[in-house]
Amino acid sequence: MEVTNLGPVGAQIDGMDLKSVLDDQEIISEIRKAFIDNSVLVFKNQNLNPSHLLSVAEIIGLPMKHPIFPGLSEHPEIIKIENLGEMYHTNAHWHSDVTFEEEPPDATFLYSLEVPDEGGDTLFSNQFLAYESLADDVKLMLSDKKASHSNASILSLMGADTSNAKRVLHPVFRTHPDSKKKALYVTQAFVEKIEEMDIKKSEDTLAILYSAASKEEFTYRHKWSKGDLLIWDNRSVQHFAEHGYGNKVRTMHRITTSGSKPF
Ligand SMILES: [Fe+2]
Repeated sequence: MEVTNLGPVGAQIDGMDLKSVLDDQEIISEIRKAFIDNSVLVFKNQNLNPSHLLSVAEIIGLPMKHPIFPGLSEHPEIIKIENLGEMYHTNAHWHSDVTFEEEPPDATFLYSLEVPDEGGDTLFSNQFLAYESLADDVKLMLSDKKASHSNASILSLMGADTSNAKRVLHPVFRTHPDSKKKALYVTQAFVEKIEEMDIKKSEDTLAILYSAASKEEFTYRHKWSKGDLLIWDNRSVQHFAEHGYGNKVRTMHRITTSGSKPF
């Protein structure tokens, strides 16, 4: 297994046809370790049907159904992501996936079936580095603070009623259960406010945190090719899906795996 570091976050793994290693416990352990060490894994030139993709996802966790978007009829844990046009593109903001759940998914798998020749990059930002970059007094002030996360922004994009939007509280700094490192865990997409803080102070503080979360020096930009599989750790990275491909076809299969309550 050849592992090439991709900069501030992520690693590319070459020389591997994923569907042929699913019974090899030694390689599976190495993939799991690389995932924890690098937060984003890139596998090129894969050829994975939905069953393969589900088996690959099981290397990391239990595939789950998305709480809002319906999945494939025969494989409900897989969401097909297609180009709905820039206006209905839900992912052009920094976020970690589905943080408005009590137990957000640990990992997301995104596999490209068809990609445009330009546009559609996905950016990943290392939230361990974002946390470390904060001033000591900010770390101290927020060490026990929680933020409220809501799905209202997705519901309103879908034109749905936001009066029953879901809200959960998660710590502003999340401890990774494997590495025990702390990561920044507030997202522009889903966070409404920091609890036990007046709204102005919350807004000012979130602006500082969002700036740290999305610094270019903590970021890897992925340019997709057909057959790429990316796996990312929602506990330690945020991502941003650019559009910029007009009406061109871009089709992906996506799976998220089971999570646990952030602490
Ligand atoms: Fe996402």
